[in-house]
Amino acid sequence: MPELFPWLLFLHVLAAIVAFGPTFAFPIIGSMGGQEPQHANFATRASHRVGDLVVEPFAISMFVTGALMIWSAGIPFLDPAYRWLLLAIVLYLVALGLALFVSRPNVKRIIALSGGEAPPPGPPPGPPPPEMLHAVSTVQRIGMILIVLLVVIVFLMVVKPDFGF
Ligand code: HEM
Repeated sequence: MPELFPWLLFLHVLAAIVAFGPTFAFPIIGSMGGQEPQHANFATRASHRVGDLVVEPFAISMFVTGALMIWSAGIPFLDPAYRWLLLAIVLYLVALGLALFVSRPNVKRIIALSGGEAPPPGPPPGPPPPEMLHAVSTVQRIGMILIVLLVVIVFLMVVKPDFGF
């Protein structure tokens, strides 16, 4: 069904824009929350909501449209000529795993430790507990790794380098 390919590619690239645009904004929102502790809980909840409603569903749709493109165009993705695609799929699965199973639980921990879904008004009572600092540094570290993985995946998908093996 090669006639489906351009439509799938359109949905694939559109979803990449929608899903990954916000991921470049999360570090900025996070650092503002760090500088203004009275708003840290709200900033984290806002990023978490964007993650749940936009980033994760559209990121997961990339696998569906990607697999459908492979099927519709009969792309031999195990062939040496398509090493870029196989590598991109592996990096994508690593990124999805880090986002869903490492970053997301730590974001939920930060929300819980900063007053939950309805925190009392005003600044937090004292300095952030060590557990919060650990969760924040984990989210920051994974956030940077995800941005690098994303840039590498887009490079592979657009440039389609020939690795020669
Ligand atoms: C972070 C995730 C991903 C991003 C940002 C991404 C991005 C892109 C972009 C920008 C293109 C258009 C390239 C061009 O036409 O020059 C593309 C094409 C493609 N992507 Fe992805 N993609 C992702 C994940 C996936 C996954 C998981 C699969 C497979 C399961 C996949 C399969 C494909 C295929 C088959 C094409 C068409 C390649 C061709 O024109 O021959 N992508 N992707």
